[in-house]
Amino acid sequence: MLSLVTVPATVALLFLGGVDAFWRMNCGIIHTGRVDPLVNPGAVAAHAHTIVGGSNIGVNATFNTLLNSECTSCEIAADKSAYWTPILYYQYPNNTFLEVPHSGSVVYYLARGPNADKIIPYPKGFMILTGDKGARSYDNETMTWGNATYPGRPIADRISFVCLPDGPPLPEGRHMFNTTCANGMRAQIAFQSCWNGKELYKADNSHVAYLNDIDNGICPPDHPIQLPTLFIETLWAVAQVSGQTPQGRFVFSQGDPTGYGFHADFQNGWDSSVLAQAVRDCLVPDNFGQISYCPALQASQTNGYPFNCPERPSQIDEPVHGLLDHLPGCVEVTEGPEVAPASSMNCPASVPKPKIFSTKDSTPRPTAVPLPGQNFGLPQQKYLGCYNDSANSIRALNALQTTNYTAMTVEFCQNYCMQNGYRLSGLEYAQECHCDNQLNPTAISGSNQCTWNCGGTMTLGKGTQQFCGGLSVISIYNNTDPTFKETGDMSNTAGNAQPYQDAAPFASNYKGCYSDNQPAGRALTGAFTQTSYNMTLEYCANFCTQGNNGLGFQYYGLEFASQCWCGNAIANGNTLLTPTSSPNNYTCSQRCPRAGAEICGGPSVLSVYNNPRYVPPVNKKSIGKYQSKQCLLDPNSGGRTLQGASMTDPKLTEESCVKFCLGKRFHYAGMEYGTECYCGDTILRNIGGQQVTCDESRIMTCGGDNREYCGGPGFMSLYYSATL
Ligand SMILES: *[C@@H]1O[C@H](CO)[C@@H](O)[C@H](O)[C@H]1NC(C)=O
Ligand SMILES: *[C@@H]1O[C@H](CO)[C@@H](O)[C@H](O)[C@H]1NC(C)=O
Ligand SMILES: *[C@@H]1O[C@H](CO)[C@@H](O)[C@H](O)[C@H]1NC(C)=O
Ligand SMILES: *[C@@H]1O[C@H](CO)[C@@H](O)[C@H](O)[C@H]1NC(C)=O
Ligand SMILES: *[C@@H]1O[C@H](CO)[C@@H](O)[C@H](O)[C@H]1NC(C)=O
Ligand SMILES: *[C@@H]1O[C@H](CO)[C@@H](O)[C@H](O)[C@H]1NC(C)=O
Ligand SMILES: *[C@@H]1O[C@H](CO)[C@@H](O)[C@H](O)[C@H]1NC(C)=O
Ligand SMILES: *[C@@H]1O[C@H](CO)[C@@H](O)[C@H](O)[C@H]1NC(C)=O
Ligand SMILES: *[C@@H]1O[C@H](CO)[C@@H](O)[C@H](O)[C@H]1NC(C)=O
Ligand SMILES: *[C@@H]1O[C@H](CO)[C@@H](O)[C@H](O)[C@H]1NC(C)=O
Repeated sequence: MLSLVTVPATVALLFLGGVDAFWRMNCGIIHTGRVDPLVNPGAVAAHAHTIVGGSNIGVNATFNTLLNSECTSCEIAADKSAYWTPILYYQYPNNTFLEVPHSGSVVYYLARGPNADKIIPYPKGFMILTGDKGARSYDNETMTWGNATYPGRPIADRISFVCLPDGPPLPEGRHMFNTTCANGMRAQIAFQSCWNGKELYKADNSHVAYLNDIDNGICPPDHPIQLPTLFIETLWAVAQVSGQTPQGRFVFSQGDPTGYGFHADFQNGWDSSVLAQAVRDCLVPDNFGQISYCPALQASQTNGYPFNCPERPSQIDEPVHGLLDHLPGCVEVTEGPEVAPASSMNCPASVPKPKIFSTKDSTPRPTAVPLPGQNFGLPQQKYLGCYNDSANSIRALNALQTTNYTAMTVEFCQNYCMQNGYRLSGLEYAQECHCDNQLNPTAISGSNQCTWNCGGTMTLGKGTQQFCGGLSVISIYNNTDPTFKETGDMSNTAGNAQPYQDAAPFASNYKGCYSDNQPAGRALTGAFTQTSYNMTLEYCANFCTQGNNGLGFQYYGLEFASQCWCGNAIANGNTLLTPTSSPNNYTCSQRCPRAGAEICGGPSVLSVYNNPRYVPPVNKKSIGKYQSKQCLLDPNSGGRTLQGASMTDPKLTEESCVKFCLGKRFHYAGMEYGTECYCGDTILRNIGGQQVTCDESRIMTCGGDNREYCGGPGFMSLYYSATL
């Protein structure tokens, strides 16, 4: 339902020349329905619109009521203006209409032409309509003002359409020339930039005129005052409409299957001083449209606009979303090419006349913002601060999470974590709640980005507004009640829980998060064990590095909260992952089942640790008169490759094995799997018996001496003496 509007491609410049400066902002939907306070003030409009901007938009909206909007669905909070365009539907052959997903609008404020330095801000109460809802064909005769130096241009050129297929973009058109657009279809429209200096609005829009070149040039003598050129791009996900057939078609809500009748309205709701500063300071060359280059606008920029200010219920009691059996208002579809008649509304008696719900002005509610160290929300809940956080790394709070936009408040999350046995609670992305008993020690506090309003306070519409983190930042609270019992993470251990350890992934011997299970094989190939209940760092360290089972590996790694892998090298092309090198795969974030604070890797990723006791073994050339013969493959089936004598000793060393074989009068001595010793005079080649370079990544140190190698899984360190 809620999606962040993607930043679009830059404006298509119809003409170059003059000063080329602008700012732009992204907008989500605030209102959908037959609302149009310019054309039909106080009444149900002829056709339905998608409106972006100030939340107080309604049939009676004015400059002052818009200014009084609680919020805006656009990126700059100081702009409570409303901008609207027709809704796009898909008309099926059975004459039903499906609303096409609207992917957001981008509003541009452009400074164009030789007089761009004389642009003034929009006056309070200013309104404009651009486009002609009745047009169904290209009008090449109605021109903008012009003279020999500044020639006019068909005003129909104010509209353009862009089709974004998977491949290279198609040239722009003046109508819906192609609707097979995998990445969306975009309608673009320019507004009149020239004002007569008198009326704020006239029903025929004669108070305004286009620049001679529409988005460039100069103003006509009878409309001498130049305003910023508004330009709106609206994107629809046309490819998401299922069941398209050659007999179906895309239709705008004013009954237009061509696109020539596309139009847009603007109702000014700017904070006048912010607009004045932005027009003065930010319509200068080379700002690339970025709000961050404009302090006046950046002061109220929010990256959370669709969450902070989601779509409001429609003021008109009439369905406009989803699949409809007629266009809102029963507008008839007219193909043209002649201009569509003004009243094409013709609802049968069976369709109830829609009511207008009254909306009352909602003054912005204050937002309560605790300072770190202050209590906030439920009793004894102390605000710790705003921390960086990301799904791509180990989260600040990592034990449990839930998402519920409509319910999310600070109290909801604090209660949820408390109920589940966690002291710490954190809110993120307006709608997520994360819990833990340990704060990730690498978490960074002090961000000022925790400014997204909680989904719950926005949708419940009551009480004080609160902040629920933001994009990749989390607002964290601590339940300081001394009687609170931390029980989270222990529920699956049948009361056999271990006390919390230090958050071990951040221990000094942590090597990092590595990929595993690449096509070439595993990262750590020395030894492996698993337990779905008892895996902890200590368990795996014990398995891979302790002398008493002989596995003296250099590294141990945990994966999938249940597996333990050992080895002396990261093998088979597996690599260190970082949140930036591998954003989708950096998922070393699974909890170890019995040790709440510890991380046990993730799916196909290993949390790798160094064995601090590991000493690189010395490769000996000889032991007494026995010479090293590299390694001997000894598969674990079909009998041993050396069958003269054998023993197993947890304290095995190379010397003790050679002595054992010499005592038994055998020419070959082989140490395998750290603790096993085999002797013989013949290498049984039909069983294994291939002499190979020792596999350093899998070779094990000897149970009795971690500076010596004693073979590995399925291979021996081999020694030979011709004389005994
Ligand atoms: C009309 O066609 C659409 C798309 O195939 C389908 O979803 C809808 O149920 C149909 N409606 C009627 C009334 O047949
Ligand atoms: C407009 O187009 C029509 C049809 O193509 C053409 O006959 C006419 O000359 C054009 N008018 C202008 C002013 O270009
Ligand atoms: C066109 O209009 C502009 C602005 O009024 C004026 O400066 C220019 O001299 C005019 N050009 C001609 C050829 O009349
Ligand atoms: C629309 O554009 C797509 C992508 O370029 C192309 O495959 C298709 O043939 C075009 N359709 C029409 C009707 O031109
Ligand atoms: C719009 O304003 C008119 C005139 O003041 C009033 O009668 C009407 O109730 C208002 N409508 C709404 C929905 O507020
Ligand atoms: C924390 O987040 C802010 C805002 O996203 C970012 O600018 C900063 O680089 C982050 N700091 C670290 C250390 O990741
Ligand atoms: C969100 O929370 C509300 C209120 O507790 C509950 O009614 C609703 O079912 C929850 N929604 C989801 C998806 O969990
Ligand atoms: C949370 O509060 C408890 C109890 O006062 C305290 O022991 C603990 O250190 C606090 N945790 C953090 C991360 O501040
Ligand atoms: C987990 O370890 C405990 C002893 O700490 C043992 O009793 C239990 O059998 C182990 N469970 C599994 C599934 O290995
Ligand atoms: C994630 O891992 C899979 C399998 O190893 C690989 O195919 C894919 O390219 C990786 N994706 C990223 C973003 O690294």
